[in-house]
Amino acid sequence: MNDFAAVILAAGKGTRMKSALPKVLHQIAGQSLVQYAVDAAKGAGAGRICLVVGHGAEQVQEAMGEEYLYAVQEQQLGTGHALQTALPAFSQLPAALLVLCGDTPLLTAETLSALAQQFFAEQADCTVMSAVLPDGGNYGRILRDEKGGVCGIIEARDSTPEQLAIREINSGVYCFRTEVLLQVIGDLRPNNDQGELYLTDVLASLHRLGRKVTAFVCPDANEILGVNDRAQLAELTALMRKRINRRWMLEGVTMIDPETVYIDAKVEIGPDTILEPQVYLHGNTVIGSGCKVGPGVKVVDSQVGDQCILGPFTYLRPGTVLAEKVKAGHFVEIKKSRIGKGSKVPHLSYIGDTIIGEGVNIGCGTITCNYDGVHKHTTVIEDQAFIGSNTNLVPPVTVGKRSTVAAGSTITEDVPADSLAIARGHQRNIEGWTLERDPRFAKKEEK
Ligand code: UD1
Ligand code: CA
Repeated sequence: MNDFAAVILAAGKGTRMKSALPKVLHQIAGQSLVQYAVDAAKGAGAGRICLVVGHGAEQVQEAMGEEYLYAVQEQQLGTGHALQTALPAFSQLPAALLVLCGDTPLLTAETLSALAQQFFAEQADCTVMSAVLPDGGNYGRILRDEKGGVCGIIEARDSTPEQLAIREINSGVYCFRTEVLLQVIGDLRPNNDQGELYLTDVLASLHRLGRKVTAFVCPDANEILGVNDRAQLAELTALMRKRINRRWMLEGVTMIDPETVYIDAKVEIGPDTILEPQVYLHGNTVIGSGCKVGPGVKVVDSQVGDQCILGPFTYLRPGTVLAEKVKAGHFVEIKKSRIGKGSKVPHLSYIGDTIIGEGVNIGCGTITCNYDGVHKHTTVIEDQAFIGSNTNLVPPVTVGKRSTVAAGSTITEDVPADSLAIARGHQRNIEGWTLERDPRFAKKEEK
C-alpha cells in the first residue's frame, strides 16, 4: 500500500482579501476554499489530513469539524515553518506526506492522485507539482540542472532576471518521503527577502544530499491558481462554475444558457432535466430527472423529485421536499414543506411549514399563514383536496381528503374529508345603488 497523509497549509492571514473572515473560509460555489483542498486530498487517497491553522484558527476548526488533525501555527514564519509545525500533530508519521495549500480550490483529486502515483512509481524522495505558464508572475521558479533534473526552487522576489524568465513554476504542492524530509526540514534558515522559513528550500537541500527530486508537470495550469484577493475569488468562481455546469451537461442535463446557471458544488441533478437561464441551485439541493426548471428559479437545500415543473420565478427554501410530478409554478415560494406526488401549486402562492398530500390542487394566490408573530404552525392538506383561489389557511389546520375550499375563504378550523368549506361573507347585491349615489347617472335616468 502506498500510504500517505496530507498536510494543508492554511494559517496565512490573506491580507489582500481585506476581510474579517479567514481567507480559506471564503466560498466558491457554496463551499469554502479549504473544503475543496480537503475533498481533493481525500479523493486522492490521503489517509489522514492535518490542517495547519493560524489566523482565525478557531473559526477554521469550527467550520471543518473534528474529523481532521489540527496544528496551530501561532506565528506565520513561512511555509517551511508551517510544515514543521504540522509534524508533531501525527501520533505516527505516514510513509509519505502530500503537502498542499488551502487556497487553491481548482486542484482536483485526479491531479493530486497522479502526482502521488508518479512519486511512488519513481520512488522519489520529493516530487513537486509544477506548471508551465506564459509568464511565471509571482510564483517560485523551478530550477533544473544541466541534465534536466530538479535542483531547487527560487522565489520570484529572490530571483535574478535570468531565473525570472523561467516559465516552469512551483504550484506549492509536493509529495515527500517522510523519513528523508525529517533529515532536512530542521535545517531551514530565513536567508531570503521575506526572512521566512521557505519550504521550497528543502528541495535544494535534498538535491545536495543526492536525493531524488522530481517534478510532476500539471497538465492543466488553471488548476493551480490560488485565491489572494476578491478579484481572483471571482475569477476562480467563474472557472469553477464552468467546470460544474460542464460536468452536469455531460451527465445529461440541458442548459439553455449555461453562462447564467449557478450550481453549488454539492448539488445533484438527474438526466433530462432542463435548466432555463438564471437558475440558482444552492447547498444540498437534489433535482430529479426529467424536470423543467424555468427562468429565475432559486432552490436552496431542497429535494425535487422526478418530472417536476418549477418556475418561472419559483423560490424553494430549505427543507422543501417535492415528490415526483409536482408543479411549483410562477411566483411561488415554498418553505420547509412536503408536497405529494402530482400536486400542483401553479401560481402566486406562499406555502410554509405545510404537508400536502397527493393530487392536491392549490388555487392561484393561496397562502398559508404559518407565522402568528411568535410561533410557526403546521398546515395539512390531504390527498385530492382542492383549495380555491385566494384562500388563506390559518394553521394549525387540516383540510381532509377530497375536500374543497371555496375561493376567497379564510380557513381557521379543520375541514373534514369529502366536504365543502366556505369561509367568507355572503354576497349581497343592493340594486339601484349607483343611481342613488351619483347625481350624474340619476339625471340620465330621468330623461
Ligand atoms: C508559495 C511558494 C511558491 C509557490 C506558491 C504557489 C514558498 C516559499 N513559496 O508562495 O514557490 O509558487 O506558493 O502558490 O513556499 N502559510 C502558512 N503559514 C505560513 C506561511 C504560509 O500556513 O507561515 C500558508 C498560507 O496560508 C498559504 C500557503 O501556505 O495557504 C502558501 O503561502 P503563501 O504565503 O501564499 O506563499 P506564496 O508566496 O504564494
Ligand atoms: Ca499564495
